[in-house]
Amino acid sequence: MCAEQYLMYRTHNCGELRNSDLTKQVELSGWVQKIRDKGFILWVDLRDRYGITQLIFDQERTSKEVIELAKTLGREFVINIKGTVIERASKNLLIETGEIEVLVSDLKILNASKTPPFTIENESDGGEELRMKYRYLDIRRNPIKDNLILRHNITQEVRKYLSDNSFIEVETPYLIKSTPEGARDFVVPSRMNSGEFYALPQSPQTFKQLLMVAGMDKYFQIVKCFRDEDLRADRQPEFTQIDCEMAFVKQQNILDTFENLVKHLFLNVKQIKLDKFPVMTYDQAIEKYGTDKPDLRYGMTFIELNEVAKHKDFNVFNKSELVVGFIIKGGDSLTRKEIDKYTEWVKRPQIGAGGLAYMRLQDDGSYKSSVDKFYDQSDLANWAKISGGEKGDILFILSGEKDKVRTQLGALRVHVANELNLKDSNVFKPLWVVDFPLLQWDEETKTFHAMHHPFTSPKSKHIDLINTEPAAVRADAYDLVLNGNEIGGGSIRIHDKEIQQKMFDCLGFTKEEAKKQFGFLMNAFEYGAPPHGGIAFGLDRLVAIMGGNEIIRDFIAFPKNNSGRDVMIDSPSPVSEEQLKEINLKTRQ
Ligand code: AMO
Repeated sequence: MCAEQYLMYRTHNCGELRNSDLTKQVELSGWVQKIRDKGFILWVDLRDRYGITQLIFDQERTSKEVIELAKTLGREFVINIKGTVIERASKNLLIETGEIEVLVSDLKILNASKTPPFTIENESDGGEELRMKYRYLDIRRNPIKDNLILRHNITQEVRKYLSDNSFIEVETPYLIKSTPEGARDFVVPSRMNSGEFYALPQSPQTFKQLLMVAGMDKYFQIVKCFRDEDLRADRQPEFTQIDCEMAFVKQQNILDTFENLVKHLFLNVKQIKLDKFPVMTYDQAIEKYGTDKPDLRYGMTFIELNEVAKHKDFNVFNKSELVVGFIIKGGDSLTRKEIDKYTEWVKRPQIGAGGLAYMRLQDDGSYKSSVDKFYDQSDLANWAKISGGEKGDILFILSGEKDKVRTQLGALRVHVANELNLKDSNVFKPLWVVDFPLLQWDEETKTFHAMHHPFTSPKSKHIDLINTEPAAVRADAYDLVLNGNEIGGGSIRIHDKEIQQKMFDCLGFTKEEAKKQFGFLMNAFEYGAPPHGGIAFGLDRLVAIMGGNEIIRDFIAFPKNNSGRDVMIDSPSPVSEEQLKEINLKTRQ
């Protein structure tokens, strides 16, 4: 291709021209963002991915035909111009091209545009659903475009770091059979195998373990995963994992390798140097924060008050398994009305607490509590002492059955942080949570489930407990938590046949069932499976948090809405009778 052809549409992009380019003859192409028509002078903001350049059409210096054509332009028209870079009379120092404008000599309309359904500017007047329907227009806006660029930068750095550390990117299939992650599968009917179905992977878990048996040693993949589960701000039915596995590793190797990956990403993408990540056991996290994904950007760690709050006449506390609370710094300034609102909040069925007790640590050194009837100042002084509260603070207290009350107080802690604006999206607090329970009791089915998945290794010192005290068994399983979000999780895997059998027994799998579902993996393990383990990060979540947000939809080019629909392409949608027949599914009545 000759140079002239190559430069057919532009010599520069719309974010490029500066004062140093004055007098240059340039050619630009892009979208019309804004038109200001003053009659004899007309300005157009021309936009592309790189920025905005102001164009000027001036009766005295631009030909009549060009001016007339310019007057027919509308928002989002695609145009091509030639002109000269000149100094702006009134400069806009808020944008990088703000000192110059281009005096247009030639104008071509490359394509007209209908009037867009919402304004394509940083702040749009379009509602969520409308912007989703016209996602290609929404992506023209800086906030969404920048999110996609951030995502690109992060994935490039992920590839770089992992490749530099000898990981090999391997693609695994999407048409597979059920995977063991515990959500519902999306199934795909097979035309060639009548009445049979593939399942889309909830993760490449079994394949990455097979790659370890295959001797690949260090694997990664930036991969789509599919889970048919209820959607929330941090969940999509198809999402992307940075999926990794390593052979001949213990838990600490994995934590070190991937802590360094996350540090690498923050340093190279956001120029932020993260300190060593704290490590907390699952039990500590639950005790101190009432959740396995504590947000460490703010305090309000739990204080257990049984010792000082029981043994008086207050029956609610006396009959509770646990009385527990947290201090809100400066919280004595909360009004009675605000406290009542928190009380209502914890009593909602979603939280289910009986009520909220509190104690104000007043400026004059006295205490005022909602349970003054039962406790005198010296009792309350003990509460203050044990909780480490100071004058001007408030202590919020819940009581009840241990597990439940911790969860309730954990939710209240997050709610208070939201209400008091304690979540700074420019602060990043990662943490490892380790030693998860191996098994989780399911009240509904009265059986144990694997908390992570059935290939997760119990801690070696707990193996003998699997049959006798399954709930007490802890696993070599870990999560990476960032600002209160689970952004990664993984485990050391079982590579010993007998332990795997014990695990299946405990989960209530018969030998036949285990063989039917995971026979291919069990077979592979007969051929020399190395000790191995891995982790998967939720890329969408990681990118969203690094972008200062928790709504992953905004960081996915073409996401689904909360009902799992793509409103742009209108999917899911019915298929034709012929298609149904072809795949041997019953036709509709
Ligand atoms: P897990 O199920 O914990 O582990 O998933 C790993 C990470 O993926 C992200 N994630 C999601 N992100 C968006 N939408 C969803 N619906 C969604 N579900 C999960 C989370 C989570 O931490 N195979 C194991 C990993 C391993 O053991 O190596 C797995 O998939 O950030």
